[in-house]
Amino acid sequence: MTTLGLIGLGRIGAFHAETLSNLPEVSGLVITDERPDVVAEIAAKYGATPADSVEALLTSGVDGVVVAAATPAHAELTLAAVGKGLPTFCEKPIASTAADSIRVAEAITRSGVPVQVGYQRRFDAAFAAVKQAVDAGSVGALHTVRSTTMDPAPPPMSYIEGSGGIFRDCAVHDFDVLRWITGQEVVEVYATGSVQGDPLFADYGDVDTAAIVVRFDGGALGVVSAARYNARGYDCRLEVHGFDDTVVAGWDQGVPVRNADSAVEFPTGQPHHFFMDRFTEAFRTELSEFVRVVQGGPILGATVSDAVAVAWIAEAATESLRRGTPVRIEEVVK
Ligand SMILES: NC(=O)c1ccc[n+]([C@@H]2O[C@H](COP(=O)([O-])OP(=O)(O)OC[C@H]3O[C@@H](n4cnc5c(N)ncnc54)[C@H](O)[C@@H]3O)[C@@H](O)[C@H]2O)c1
Repeated sequence: MTTLGLIGLGRIGAFHAETLSNLPEVSGLVITDERPDVVAEIAAKYGATPADSVEALLTSGVDGVVVAAATPAHAELTLAAVGKGLPTFCEKPIASTAADSIRVAEAITRSGVPVQVGYQRRFDAAFAAVKQAVDAGSVGALHTVRSTTMDPAPPPMSYIEGSGGIFRDCAVHDFDVLRWITGQEVVEVYATGSVQGDPLFADYGDVDTAAIVVRFDGGALGVVSAARYNARGYDCRLEVHGFDDTVVAGWDQGVPVRNADSAVEFPTGQPHHFFMDRFTEAFRTELSEFVRVVQGGPILGATVSDAVAVAWIAEAATESLRRGTPVRIEEVVK
């Protein structure tokens, strides 16, 4: 049996606490956060053991660590866990910037300690089926891969301020999926965006809506759409077009669209509300696979090197938005 530590108990940390406390292979959960009241509340709710500090958690005898704190803390918390030799799951991204991701990745490589990064779409059954179809060759050469992520409403503006912007915070999921599905590397990015919601987005140098065109080295073109205000629901879709076939994920009965064609009865379900209900099962599988990593198994999810590659795509997109021109990855990689 495996005992895990969980650092960070905000939106996703509290959700991971619930998931981890329900995994039969997790025999104990030690939790901490900068906010002691939240630690006490979550400990009571899920029967977890509270720790007074990160150091107390890391030295409590846990076998592995889940880092779900705010993004600016990821690098140092992950390195602290790895420094104790503890296999670590870090929510995306592994650091606030791509340059810092490199520093973290190098330290992790030197340590030899396994680190899995939280890109849960890889564990969604539909996304995984698309990957299988592409790998099996039935789709043929890929020409267009389209990934959409639209949140029903933005997180608190205090979160947005420290998030690094829509490309580093949100579109990284799309970049990870497109890289993973195509098996190709991105060479060039053109990103544009707008602010029509809270003006604070502009104050933070961020946008609430973005469109990104991505060129891959194997010839595929990627089109990413991201938005923070999409009242119909959480819209997360993947559409993969090849010369021989088209496969999609996310076109289930809960896809949050209102079909204007009265002759078509689709979709019929309740629209997905947010990432937590859309990816509940994927998060469970992802964390369950992390327990296997702690027990000595291979990393089936995103690795640190995947996270670094994705961080450079986000960096190029951020720079492209600033310049208003396409940006090649080689221009931003340091
Ligand atoms: N995989 C996904 O789909 C997904 C979804 C949402 C968030 N995330 C990632 O998870 C992270 C957290 O997001 P959130 O929405 O839960 O944020 P949040 O602001 O709701 O919560 C962050 C928590 O971290 C705590 N914290 C900050 N620094 C800390 C430190 N040094 N030590 C201990 N606790 C600390 C805060 O007190 C807070 O409780 C972000 O990095 C985000 O990118 C991933």
